[in-house]
Amino acid sequence: MNVDAEPREELHGLVRSLLERVRGDGESGRPRSYLSGGVERLAPPPALNGRNEGGLETVRADIGDCRRCPLGGLRRRLVFGEGNARADLVFVGEAPGADEDEQGRPFVGRAGQLLTKIIEAMGLKREEVYICNILKCRPPGNRNPLPDEIAACEPFLIRQLEAIRPRVICALGSFAAHALLKSEAPISVLRGRFHRYQGIPLMPTYHPAYLLRNPGAKKQVWEDVQSIMKVLRQAP
Ligand code: URA
Repeated sequence: MNVDAEPREELHGLVRSLLERVRGDGESGRPRSYLSGGVERLAPPPALNGRNEGGLETVRADIGDCRRCPLGGLRRRLVFGEGNARADLVFVGEAPGADEDEQGRPFVGRAGQLLTKIIEAMGLKREEVYICNILKCRPPGNRNPLPDEIAACEPFLIRQLEAIRPRVICALGSFAAHALLKSEAPISVLRGRFHRYQGIPLMPTYHPAYLLRNPGAKKQVWEDVQSIMKVLRQAP
């Protein structure tokens, strides 16, 4: 399981992140707002590539009994994702762990129980949001996802997000943030402000498993989810 704790990389990551923002802002013509950590007034997301690909059930059917990467032969159960197919908010985690592999449901172990508490503290019910992962199958021993595994699984996550078209995405931990944002900046640098995924506001924050080991980071996660709530409270 990824640990999200690489303080040595922090300075490099900050520089990389600033460079990415300078390049990104320059290319998009957006005003340069390097210090903006607060909540912008965010426009509703445009349709993702104008496609929906038939909804979540079609995506699930297309995954089938997946063997596209070696994890398919090692898993007990494929963990597709669960929740409201029309959710305003989607949480994207890293990969199933042992409990999820056992039950075929995302975020049901200790980290999942903490995620459920976070969702409830936001004033939402777990069933109101959608929860899924970058990888649909458990890596052995909860090791980090490999690039080939992410490449094999990511098209299905993209289609899940296209089908749901949420108003906000919350990326839990560095693997989710890196995969969705195509950035290598540390999560400590990425979190705390909105990015965009296909036009949708995306807030990276620390993974609940990291919070279990580092309860002091709960304050920052609380700030991040409050920013999400502010956006969700705005008229769509
Ligand atoms: N951690 C994750 O990233 N996803 C899960 O589903 C469970 C734990």
